[in-house]
Amino acid sequence: MEPFVRALAAFLILSIPLVLALDEHKSSVNGSSIMWTNALDVDDLQSRSANEGIHSTDEEIDGGFNSLDSMLQWAIEHSDPDTLKGAAHASQSLNDTELKARQSAIVELMESMRMPSDADLMKIAIADLQNSSSSFEDRQRALQELLELVEPIYNSNDLHKLGGLVVVVNELNRAEKELRILAAWVLGKASQNNELVQNQLLELNVLPTLMGMVRSSCTEEAVKALYALSAVIRNHPVGQEQFYLLDGTSLLKDLMKDTTSDTRLHRKCLFLVADLAEQQSEFSEVLSKYDPNKDYLMAVVNLLDAEDFDTKEKALMAIHSLTGSSDIAYHLLKHECHIKSVLHRLELQLDAVIQSTNDSDSVKDFLLLCQKIRSMFSNGEEGRSNQ
Ligand SMILES: *[C@@H]1O[C@H](CO)[C@@H](O)[C@H](O)[C@H]1NC(C)=O
Ligand SMILES: *[C@@H]1O[C@H](CO)[C@@H](O)[C@H](O)[C@H]1NC(C)=O
Ligand SMILES: *[C@@H]1O[C@H](CO)[C@@H](O)[C@H](O)[C@H]1NC(C)=O
Ligand SMILES: *[C@@H]1O[C@H](CO)[C@@H](O)[C@H](O)[C@H]1NC(C)=O
Repeated sequence: MEPFVRALAAFLILSIPLVLALDEHKSSVNGSSIMWTNALDVDDLQSRSANEGIHSTDEEIDGGFNSLDSMLQWAIEHSDPDTLKGAAHASQSLNDTELKARQSAIVELMESMRMPSDADLMKIAIADLQNSSSSFEDRQRALQELLELVEPIYNSNDLHKLGGLVVVVNELNRAEKELRILAAWVLGKASQNNELVQNQLLELNVLPTLMGMVRSSCTEEAVKALYALSAVIRNHPVGQEQFYLLDGTSLLKDLMKDTTSDTRLHRKCLFLVADLAEQQSEFSEVLSKYDPNKDYLMAVVNLLDAEDFDTKEKALMAIHSLTGSSDIAYHLLKHECHIKSVLHRLELQLDAVIQSTNDSDSVKDFLLLCQKIRSMFSNGEEGRSNQ
């Protein structure tokens, strides 16, 4: 049990008779479950509350107590009958004035024990980041807290209003890479599937900073920055246009061509390549002028030869999206990247894998997709529209 909860329980056990007595005095502490009992009938009190078993203890500890009632219930269930009787007896000797004084003390304490809301916690973390005297550890802790807090959309929606996005974006420029990594992670989480935050971050011009970090020699920094970058522009044509104008495709091409890159980076790149291609076909009026070039497409095609299966699969998905994204991509893949023979070679590899293993359903799906894409390049020039 948490020390805090233990202390709370001890306090409440001693307060129960007081609160109950106050109730008889028509005090403002007014709870329905307090009404069903008599302050001195402690044995009855305890057995009734145990039978009622309103909430599970774990739930209440995890979620905090949402009322005085539930705190009392909990304390009664967890208290020793003799302690309760002793405390009840002690409270009988108090006169009116003393009871009233205790009452206000209890109410005050209850207020101060109120669990802070997520907004309170975000404000505290943000204040720590705003404070120029905060230490490295303070900042790290604040960012870790925000990482948890921004997960629900109602919190990430509030982050900018509370001044949070600006301070987290500033952390991207810290000398300590641990802070830069955490900050990128927070921004990625906050903007994931959240158009409001995506737009706020684009207005804060976060893309150039993140793109610089993606080129970091520290793999973890590059991975988290690419995660954030992808989250800010995914499914978001306005962000993708900014990305193209900053020559984002060269960045992706370089990463994909770098054979020393971590496979996580390759896979994240391929995921983004596929998303860019899909948005390009969906919003062609805005994005069609950013057609991919041969180098970029070759970098994707070459990852079909990656050693790990997962990367191969992501590369194939990206090619599938690119095939349908524009006529130019289709023609380059067909005539310059010789996609048909590359896919044919891959099919032979996959066939061999299927022969040698008895658990090959996912490989079979992979093979089917491969054949489907190859056939799109076999049906003459209209193949793209037949996909
Ligand atoms: C307190 O409880 C009494 C009795 O149930 C009720 O009449 C009264 O309205 C309640 N007061 C408040 C503030 O809830
Ligand atoms: C209540 O008790 C306190 C201390 O025991 C005493 O000072 C006070 O005068 C008492 N008040 C009344 C109204 O009896
Ligand atoms: C800023 O941080 C320092 C060091 O932790 C602390 O002493 C100070 O109270 C903080 N200032 C504000 C305004 O929170
Ligand atoms: C599947 O292959 C493993 C070894 O690759 C073998 O031990 C196992 O018996 C095979 N299972 C079946 C159902 O053929």
